Amino acid sequence: MRILQVSAEIFPLLKTGGLADIAGALPLALAAAGQEVRVLLPGFPAILAGVKGLEPVADFQAPWGEPARLLKGHIATAGAPDVPTYVIEAPGLYNRPGNPYEDANRQPYADNHRRFALLGWAAARIAQGLDPEWAPELVHAHDWHAALAPAYLAFADWTGQPRVPSLYTIHNLAYQGVFPPWTFTELGLPHTAFQLNGLEYHGQVSFMKAGLFYADRLSTVSPTYAGEIQTPEQGFGLDGLLRSRSYTLHGILNAVDDAVWNPAADPLLAAPYDVRRPGGKTACKAALQQKLGLAVAPDAPLFVIVSRLTEQKGLPLLLEGLDALLAQGGQFALLGSGDGWLEDAFRRRAADAPDSVSVTIGYDEPLAHQLFGGSDVTLVPSLFEPCGLTQMYGLRYGSLPLVHRVGGLADTVVDTTLEDMAAGISTGFTFDDFSGEGYQRAMRRAFALYARPADWRRVRATAMRRPADWGTAAAKYIEVYKWALG
Ligand code: ADP
Ligand code: GLC
Repeated sequence: MRILQVSAEIFPLLKTGGLADIAGALPLALAAAGQEVRVLLPGFPAILAGVKGLEPVADFQAPWGEPARLLKGHIATAGAPDVPTYVIEAPGLYNRPGNPYEDANRQPYADNHRRFALLGWAAARIAQGLDPEWAPELVHAHDWHAALAPAYLAFADWTGQPRVPSLYTIHNLAYQGVFPPWTFTELGLPHTAFQLNGLEYHGQVSFMKAGLFYADRLSTVSPTYAGEIQTPEQGFGLDGLLRSRSYTLHGILNAVDDAVWNPAADPLLAAPYDVRRPGGKTACKAALQQKLGLAVAPDAPLFVIVSRLTEQKGLPLLLEGLDALLAQGGQFALLGSGDGWLEDAFRRRAADAPDSVSVTIGYDEPLAHQLFGGSDVTLVPSLFEPCGLTQMYGLRYGSLPLVHRVGGLADTVVDTTLEDMAAGISTGFTFDDFSGEGYQRAMRRAFALYARPADWRRVRATAMRRPADWGTAAAKYIEVYKWALG
């Protein structure tokens, strides 16, 4: 199958969150399964700098008349085949360094509707033959940034050629790309699209809704989240539409890219280790404690979190529970950036107890690896979590996840209840009640298990063995592509 994957970010060139990890790994997994995949990306500075061998393919125009150029090159990954990559060159829209969505003051760019409409528009143009040498049989669009692609495909003139279908994947329903109604006139869609049965959302233009309404198939990144978003509590006003399309909505769990996240061969760790030779983890913990300025205490359970600091991630629970964590002899390390008040609150806690609390504000890919490698527990207390990758990295690196049992967290972590431990399936700690008390009970469970080293090692081995391979996920996507084509 010829598939065009469309996303705003991609690991290792540009990443603000889990979307990039998935956008980077899926094409490789699909190629390994024999599919012909190309990716399409906006020409942000990091993308233009990172895609190799870029050459012009064709000039085209945005619906509002702005000129743009389609380039073609490839993303090279050691040990894997190159991924053929299209990049949209439109400097007026994309030549802005840093975060692809927001300015230096963390405000969304005022022309985001244009910046991401062009991404969907270019995808549809490629499907219609903009590159004379290659056209996809199917377009796979990720998140609201790419969500106009299904709408443009639905309204394109297909005279003389078969219509190209689309799959739209929701990575997070909380980010919808909603814009004022006047922006609609710039999008180049027929008036009939701006209505309830279309992309209109309470009088506004919703890119997310365009994807949900016009794509042939929908998917999201875990089976539990696929169910949750069909409820009024978690549907952000789109649950009705999602319920009406539930027969086309698939929950496909994200996977872990073994080439990037593998403690046995991770050059960023102080020592390699795996489930049969876990000894290196002790060296990783000591190196991490030293690097972060924490007391180098092998027996102090080290809890870490690597996260965007936003409301979604449940961080107030951690602040509330920090005294109890320290009182029980634990250490805490955070890596993240986001809301100013959260950054400040965590910074203050680190200043108060530098031996046992470390807070790194910023974005640091190597440190993220070292945190999973050197820690005992990975915290993911999210209010909601479509899939979540850090708990999967925690599992893989033997840092037992402690999670709120929602979305993909519920699908990937098995609590250490007596019965599940006896069955040999426990991999971490979960709580149902999103409250300080709920979180702290799970934390006490982690301390209790830590006090029983043989049991801890057994649960850790189960966690590290948990399969999360991209082959399985890619096979599910291929099945959905076939349905979309059928
Ligand atoms: P989300 O996509 O909602 O942010 P995920 O758990 O799916 O959550 O993915 C987050 C990804 O971003 C992971 O790869 C995680 O390691 C990474 N990450 C988040 N914050 C940071 C940071 N401050 N520094 C380095 N990596 C980070
Ligand atoms: C989103 C979600 C996260 C998911 C990631 C990749 O950012 O918040 O839960 O893991 O996308 O699918």
